[in-house]
Amino acid sequence: MRETTRPTIYSTMKYWGKKPHNIWGNYIKKYCPKNGIVLDPFVGSGMTYFESIKNNRRPITIDINPISDMSIRCLTKRNIDTDKLTLITKKIIDKISKEDYYIKEYKYKCDSCGEKIEIYNYKINGKSTITYKCHKCNMIVTKEITDYKETNYIIDKWVPTKKLSDIASISDSFLKRIESDNISYLWTNRNLKILSEIFDLILKIDDDTIKELLVFAFLQCLHLTSRMCVPRDDKSNRPLSTSWGRPAYMLSKKTFEQNPLLAFEKAVFNSTGILKAIDSSKEYLGEKIAVDGRHILGSSNEVLDTLDSSFIDLVITDPPYGDLIQYGDLSEVWVSWLEHYNESYKINHNKEIIINKNKNINYYKEELTNTFNSVNRVLKEEGFFILTFNSNKKEDWESLFYAIKNSNFRINKFIMQKNRRSSEANVKAKEGIAITDYYLICQKGNWTTEHIEDFLNNWRIEI
Ligand SMILES: C[S@@+](CC[C@H](N)C(=O)[O-])C[C@H]1O[C@@H](n2cnc3c(N)ncnc32)[C@H](O)[C@@H]1O
Ligand SMILES: [Zn+2]
Repeated sequence: MRETTRPTIYSTMKYWGKKPHNIWGNYIKKYCPKNGIVLDPFVGSGMTYFESIKNNRRPITIDINPISDMSIRCLTKRNIDTDKLTLITKKIIDKISKEDYYIKEYKYKCDSCGEKIEIYNYKINGKSTITYKCHKCNMIVTKEITDYKETNYIIDKWVPTKKLSDIASISDSFLKRIESDNISYLWTNRNLKILSEIFDLILKIDDDTIKELLVFAFLQCLHLTSRMCVPRDDKSNRPLSTSWGRPAYMLSKKTFEQNPLLAFEKAVFNSTGILKAIDSSKEYLGEKIAVDGRHILGSSNEVLDTLDSSFIDLVITDPPYGDLIQYGDLSEVWVSWLEHYNESYKINHNKEIIINKNKNINYYKEELTNTFNSVNRVLKEEGFFILTFNSNKKEDWESLFYAIKNSNFRINKFIMQKNRRSSEANVKAKEGIAITDYYLICQKGNWTTEHIEDFLNNWRIEI
């Protein structure tokens, strides 16, 4: 089966390690009876939740990251007053675009026709340039700026102040480069000024649904307007936008500073914006969501302890792969702001299953085992436990096998999944093709070595 194009419901919020939705959905259909209950203890961006509903199964999902909670809440909303949302968003944009700081930093007069236009971005790559788009001349212009004077704006609205040195995966060289221990330095002063003003206006909205959706949209522009964005290759021919280079805290000499107000506007109105994502959700899951679902924010182990025994039909999950993606740490780019909107939206780094400088492989292995044990308890006797995994580190695989074995599961089948996108793990299989993941189909039972013999014969890693 091939991966199909992602509907907007899956592309609106950035998250790492999203699975091919239709393949994921097919596993759910195949291994869980209609109306049965599907559990995912590491749901990430929410795919298991949505695919279960799509396929008339009832999801129970868990994740320690508040981004999962926010995504699932926002993308399953119905009966939204979109006219009101549009109006409120336009008011916010209109207000900021008239402020002196915005005019000074991001407004410009087209060199050819004199039309008042907006600067899309600043690029520092040896020299400083701006890029603007003039609708009247129908032109995109990138030009060098020589007479620019930096202003240090006073920021009198709330901004996050989390200490970067408390984030485990941040390196000393990054701290040196950023020259501060404050997370707000991930943004330049002018961008922080604009972001703080947008956020302040969003938090003042009295309609709770619209406020929540606009906070969600606001999250999408945080990484895109940060100093971690790198300019695209000149050849790419896409001068107006870029993205966060790779899943790490990074600062390159070449920076690309995107206009926060345009980023916010896009996050609401563009083809991957929240309005389209909600339409996509309605189309994909139904205007009225007929199936009940539950998502719980918390550490899966603790949450699973509160559930009954033997009532889940299928567990399907994509656990963290060793130290590969520092989900909690990286999400601070968003959650450091989100905490101010809802104080229960904090990342509980202590309970995250991960390997980093505070947590070694034994921690990872034992916590994975504990979680799988709880999974075993809640799963029906004949139920399936499907896992995806990928790593080019032998120890990660050993930890996974250890956890499966010590929670009384056995691997029935493993499947190598080729895909359009290579995964973050970027592991190559024998034929040299990039594989997204291995799917391990497990059931309750005892572990015997021949169960994994096939598996070990069939995979090879290139380090
Ligand atoms: C590989 S990702 C899942 C990505 C997912 N496949 C998707 O489509 O977005 C693993 C997830 O495990 C979560 N996680 C890590 N430790 C956890 C814990 N103790 N309890 C619950 N979730 C945890 C992380 O927040 C992360 O979202
Ligand atoms: Zn013009």
